[in-house]
Amino acid sequence: TQQEISLSEKITILKRKKKAVILAHYYQVPEIQEVADYVGDSLGLSQKAAETEAEIIVFAGVHFMAETAKILNPNKKVLLPDMMAGCSLADSCPADKFGKLVAEHPDHTVITYVNCSAEVKALSDIICTSSNAEKIVNSIPKDAPIIFAPDKNLGKYIQKKTGRKMLLWDGACIVHEAFSIEKLLKLYQEHPDSIIIAHPESEAHILETAAYIGSTAGMIDYVKKNPSKKFIVATEAGILHKMQQEVPEAILIPAPAEEDNTCACSECAFMKMNTLQKLYDCLLNETPFIDVSEEVRKKAIVPIERMLELSK
Ligand code: 13P
Ligand code: SF4
Repeated sequence: TQQEISLSEKITILKRKKKAVILAHYYQVPEIQEVADYVGDSLGLSQKAAETEAEIIVFAGVHFMAETAKILNPNKKVLLPDMMAGCSLADSCPADKFGKLVAEHPDHTVITYVNCSAEVKALSDIICTSSNAEKIVNSIPKDAPIIFAPDKNLGKYIQKKTGRKMLLWDGACIVHEAFSIEKLLKLYQEHPDSIIIAHPESEAHILETAAYIGSTAGMIDYVKKNPSKKFIVATEAGILHKMQQEVPEAILIPAPAEEDNTCACSECAFMKMNTLQKLYDCLLNETPFIDVSEEVRKKAIVPIERMLELSK
């Protein structure tokens, strides 16, 4: 008798046959995280993309992440299960407008958060992610003026940490701006034994309440170091899957969003556009795939490689 094989099993078989690697961000749905070869934060994912020997990269994340992988691997096929999986932060920084700002400040070093388009990367001097932003800013000579884009919340946080005044782009992540400080404080009162941890894309009033601020990978590491505690987690709720798997004894409560949605927490609609079925289909059909013009790619790879070099 032939047993029905699951979609996850089909993906695993096909992945081996095609010599493909599946890279997934912590915000992906649990079933995608489970079939992935590697689950990580933006920095970890770009490091994996830079070193993979697979012939095909299936990027279970959003467009700018897959695009970064393609910039690093021009001769590989980079697939994204849903081409509409964008990012509000990347969208907040159109390349033409950003180009004008850069042109108006020729003496500024342009540090750009990885959540941006390839065209914006091509206008940048160095890329950063939330796990290395402080280090990257500190690597620039003390008196050199800096443009920091596109996330103003991360920018303000890094300004505070480094004491550097930076020219900030006015962009933000819709998911991290959706947290309600009133609801968060009420939740904290109900759980006075909890520890608030937050992603630096959150607004300053949320960050002020946090005992730990860091990237998704940083937040998971922090929980690992305090395994038996209770945490209120202020980032996209997809992270709870890996966090709970890594630290089964921890009590994890997602930080509440202003508007109640299905999970009464914050979910990134872009990240959640990828489904297991779409992942299977894109691996099977080898489409949709990412394309970056060679002209843009040649410029965009320089600031990405600078970041990777500084993050070793
Ligand atoms: P990190 O995974 O680098 O913490 O970034 C979070 C995020 O919003 C990615 O889109
Ligand atoms: Fe972009 Fe925010 Fe979604 Fe991350 S969580 S992909 S920053 S919209």
